[in-house]
Amino acid sequence: MSEHTAPTPGLDAAEIAEPGAVTVVVPTFNESANIRRLLRLITESVPARLPCEVVFVDDSTDDTPEVIRAAAQDCPFPVAVLHRAEPVGGLGGAVVEGIKAATSEWIVVMDGDCQHPPSLIPELVATGERANAGLVVASRYIEGGSRAGLAGGYRVTVSRGATWLTKALFPRRLHGISDPMSGFFAIRRSAVSAEVLKPLGYKILLELAVRSRPGRVAEVPFVFQDRFAGESKSTAQEGFRFLRHLAGLRTASPVARMVGFGLIGASGFVPNLVGLWALTALGTHYVPAEILANQLGVAWNFLLIEQLLFRDRRAHRRRWDRLGRFALLANADLVLRIPLIALLVGRFGMGALPATALALAMTFVLRFVGTEALVYLP
Ligand code: GDD
Ligand code: MN
Repeated sequence: MSEHTAPTPGLDAAEIAEPGAVTVVVPTFNESANIRRLLRLITESVPARLPCEVVFVDDSTDDTPEVIRAAAQDCPFPVAVLHRAEPVGGLGGAVVEGIKAATSEWIVVMDGDCQHPPSLIPELVATGERANAGLVVASRYIEGGSRAGLAGGYRVTVSRGATWLTKALFPRRLHGISDPMSGFFAIRRSAVSAEVLKPLGYKILLELAVRSRPGRVAEVPFVFQDRFAGESKSTAQEGFRFLRHLAGLRTASPVARMVGFGLIGASGFVPNLVGLWALTALGTHYVPAEILANQLGVAWNFLLIEQLLFRDRRAHRRRWDRLGRFALLANADLVLRIPLIALLVGRFGMGALPATALALAMTFVLRFVGTEALVYLP
């Protein structure tokens, strides 16, 4: 077990429906063949002294909601189905809906395909109570845990790589969490600040750990089982969504966003140079070639910042308006740089090299501030 040094959030007694009670939140997407088994396993696992309710948050296109309602008849605890007409945020968005609907002090989030053993529900809650933790993660990567159900070497490699990258990006927030990719965990309702969450796809534990800062963390090992019926709903598209999620989390502060802006800008040199090479090889004079190639770099930068940095701030203007403003700023930067260098050298007597470095830095900051203010603010 590992523990955070951060203080445990204070518990507001008025907020707690029933101390020690648990709401199990299960996101489902076309899982009709798994529901009965899952509810039976939960029934067998949760002792009478632990009051329990189950909330399914469903985005299915099949008969999963009906199957849940029918199976709920045989359950000794309340079972609710929230079917979302508009499934925003995918799996993570569904879990946040479930968390908002939960009434118990503890919320256990688990998959609907029986890959997460319900027998662990009481242990997750008990561990949280004992350790006075805000978050208890069921981990595949501590002693006693394993990823038996992660089919194929390819998925294991991807999962390992993603875990490593994520831990490297958030060393502090994920301290004490060996398995930030796990979809199985218990969290105290008072440790969730739902209003700061921006869930995007599968990694909802990561979202909660980074944005909600649930305080003290404990871990419990678990064996990731084989899927009972059906197939994983994850796609290649989900992989890209995960990268966007990481970028969004990492660039939440203005300083981090500026660093991201700089990195994307630097990456723009690649299409710029490739374009320049192609155009001059085709016999274009180097001056128009420079100008055209620069537009290629601008387009590349625009695509990346739209996807990775300002995704949630695109609604204020139309796409072409944003592109036009962005391109204008980028080219103004280029046009401004030479007279600025001349000014620094001529008026302030700077050497050409430091003057260029200073001009680059100044126009970069101007371009960043300008992009935020003129392209992405209402
Ligand atoms: N409501 C809703 N909306 N539920 C969804 C959606 C969605 O868009 N997509 C998937 N789900 C549900 C599935 O029906 C299932 O109950 C659960 O979320 C997990 O989906 P799977 O498709 O089975 O995920 P997985 O097995 O590939 O991945 C699981 O294990 C990973 C660890 O390797 C998830 O728990 C991941 O979060 C976890 O990282
Ligand atoms: Mn699964």
